[in-house]
Amino acid sequence: MDKIVIEGGFPLNGEIRISGAKNSAIKLMAVCLLTDEPVTLTNMPRLRDTRSMAGLLRHLGVEVDAGESDVMRLHGPKLSSTTAPYDLVRKMRASFNVLGPILARHHAAKVSLPGGCAIGARPVDLHLKALESLGAKIELEEGYVIASAKGGLVGAEITFPFVTVGATEHAMLAAVLAKGETVLYNAAREPEIVDLANCLNAMGAKISGAGRSEVRIEGVKSLSGVEHSVVPDRIEAGTYALAAATAGGSVRLRNIRSDHLGALWPLIAQAGAKVSLDETTVLIERGGGRPKPVDVDTMAYPGFPTDLQAQFMAFMCLADGVSIVRENIFENRFMHCPELARMGADITVTGREAIVRGVKEFRGAPVMATDLRASACLINAGLAARGETHISRVYHLDRGFEQIEVKLGQCGARISRQADD
Ligand code: EPZ
Repeated sequence: MDKIVIEGGFPLNGEIRISGAKNSAIKLMAVCLLTDEPVTLTNMPRLRDTRSMAGLLRHLGVEVDAGESDVMRLHGPKLSSTTAPYDLVRKMRASFNVLGPILARHHAAKVSLPGGCAIGARPVDLHLKALESLGAKIELEEGYVIASAKGGLVGAEITFPFVTVGATEHAMLAAVLAKGETVLYNAAREPEIVDLANCLNAMGAKISGAGRSEVRIEGVKSLSGVEHSVVPDRIEAGTYALAAATAGGSVRLRNIRSDHLGALWPLIAQAGAKVSLDETTVLIERGGGRPKPVDVDTMAYPGFPTDLQAQFMAFMCLADGVSIVRENIFENRFMHCPELARMGADITVTGREAIVRGVKEFRGAPVMATDLRASACLINAGLAARGETHISRVYHLDRGFEQIEVKLGQCGARISRQADD
């Protein structure tokens, strides 16, 4: 297994091009299950998670052409299977979202339950309730969801008891081919949901209101092929912005949607870094002196994203004072804290709240990545640390960051990938 080795303590200076969003790309790939025509996705990130999804789609009979470029072509004129097996679904939770589209097009599907994961239990009860509202009959057998909808899905009113990104997307992916109108209340408003709706609408779907809490979907009989460009990855952008703020220096990020990180920029500025924005780029600059402490609360979009909580905490570990970080989305998303403590951080976690007492510096140490975004926070801490940091279990990072060591290396980071001994 590989590890990342960082010789820290050097500011970052340069430019990084942000890739397409992982969390949009893997859901967009599933739209090929809704049409017998070809789907072409551009600005696709090349990641372990998109490869996992490609593996699952191939198993279902979809032709997937993902060369070395950022273009992916998918074509599933006829599916050879309507079963998504455990071995393929367990690699990535989001692959569970093939259930709705297979069910919508073939009126029957068997998909493994995804199971828990490191950041919490993450049930799929609201996904299943949404599909049941659309008329699906759902049975659970030996770890599999067996779903059927004789005569096809039927539009319905679905109210989510709390905001869920995955279930909102799943309901949309199923309702586009249902008979009649579906209305989603308390829908998630993330940019990835708008991206999915834009792609489906370009295929002939009739979705209105995506990006707002009430989404209306008028079912259509069939969908055509499409060419669609994946929205820029706001979490990758936020991670590198926080890398520059934490390690210091001057970094320009290109190919972003700055409006998608409206909750992050003011906090970075409040902490004392300079943030200069236009629509598609941002320049982050931080000179000497310690950052100021800033509290943060994770919330559904447009609030502060849980996927940047760990990276923001690494930044606050160096603040001149105490900050409070509250995680409101997942129940177990503080596993980076003991690893940051190995690098000298002073953090006390009580339930969903972390009290971060700023220290003068991080010291390099061997640390372990526990999940994707936690790994990114250890990278950012390592860039700022005095001495060498070794981050093991790098496969977590490869799930969601395209060529992280190359992109940071372009900004002068002393970072390399080595075989773990
Ligand atoms: C998506 O996960 C993202 N994943 C996550 O990013 C992100 O952290 C999360 O949204 C919140 O923004 C992908 O898009 C692939 P939710 P998702 O449904 O859809 C509970 C990353 O690192 N819940 O909004 O699974 C759930 O347990 C990942 O890229 C139920 O109880 O998140 C959580 O506490 C990590 N029942 C809360 O809702 C359900 O049926 C919000 O989850 C569904 C969710």
